[in-house]
Amino acid sequence: MKERIEALKHEIERALSEGRSLKDIKELQVRFLGRKGPIQELMLALRETSAEERPSLGQQINRLKEEVTEALHKLEKNFSSSEEEERLRQETLDVTLPGSYRPLGRKHPVSAMLDLVLEAHRDMGFSVQYGPDIESDFYNFEALNFAPDHPARDMHDTYYIEPGVLLRTHTSNTQVRLMEGHPPPIRIAAPGRCFRNEDITARSHLFFHQVEGIYIDRGVSMSDLVQTLEDLLHRIFSTQVKLRLRSSYFPFVEPGLEVDISCLACSGKGCTLCKKSGWLEVLGAGMVHPEVLKSGGIDPEEYTGYAWGMGIERLVLLKYGIDDIRLLFDGDVRLLRQFSFV
Ligand code: DAH
Repeated sequence: MKERIEALKHEIERALSEGRSLKDIKELQVRFLGRKGPIQELMLALRETSAEERPSLGQQINRLKEEVTEALHKLEKNFSSSEEEERLRQETLDVTLPGSYRPLGRKHPVSAMLDLVLEAHRDMGFSVQYGPDIESDFYNFEALNFAPDHPARDMHDTYYIEPGVLLRTHTSNTQVRLMEGHPPPIRIAAPGRCFRNEDITARSHLFFHQVEGIYIDRGVSMSDLVQTLEDLLHRIFSTQVKLRLRSSYFPFVEPGLEVDISCLACSGKGCTLCKKSGWLEVLGAGMVHPEVLKSGGIDPEEYTGYAWGMGIERLVLLKYGIDDIRLLFDGDVRLLRQFSFV
């Protein structure tokens, strides 16, 4: 037994001296200290020794085990720190190398304008609510006082999904929905996508965005509308603009208005942006028609209101002097890179 212990000791010493890496050491740990290893085997063999020899042999085996454990532990430590050093040496970072270029995404000008317009509405006390893109004929037309033969209902203007169901042609579809959902006072901005079956040209697109503003309360007057629009457009264009109101017709307002602002490029002197007129058309507005209030369950004898609808793409074109709406939807990064909205 004694010889076996000695022989094993030598074997282990040799093996340890040959260990070259952390991986080798781990293997030696398993090989010598494992449950099926030679030290454990000797422990079991103790049973066959005489009772007098057993305690001292047992002690020797235990000592061997402790020595091996300690030696392996030391080696493990040494190897892991030298391997770590090696790894760090190879990983050194050359801070003088040029960095890799990561292009930063940014907001599309239409999204940025939408955010700006909504922020201006919020700052003026309007809350924001959304209506559906897919709408019934009722909310898009009928409830808004469109006669059944109104040209806007024509198949050529409106995308019908099935009879009576369509892609909304304007955000005015939200008006009666909002009235149904809230008793007055109502002061809401409703943004959204709109769709019209139009040719895609420099000035028109079949897909665009609008923001509808609506205010209904007791005693709301046309002068409130004008004053509020002036304030709103000032916030949107970040400059004082003069308003020009032209009488116009929309079935859901009476009176109806088309609102122009003094040209942003020439301040009204006349240039190519305003086609020498000095004015830029920015939105449609008016006093909510009594029939529309009735559609929304509101008594027109008690309440009045105003509303407007503005095209977001048009505001972008005017604010940045872009002359072709298609540029906004081409996805050409050369255009987008010229804007730095975040
Ligand atoms: N819905 C109209 C359009 O798409 C715009 C509009 C005009 C909205 C007058 C209004 C309004 O709220 O009062 O052309």
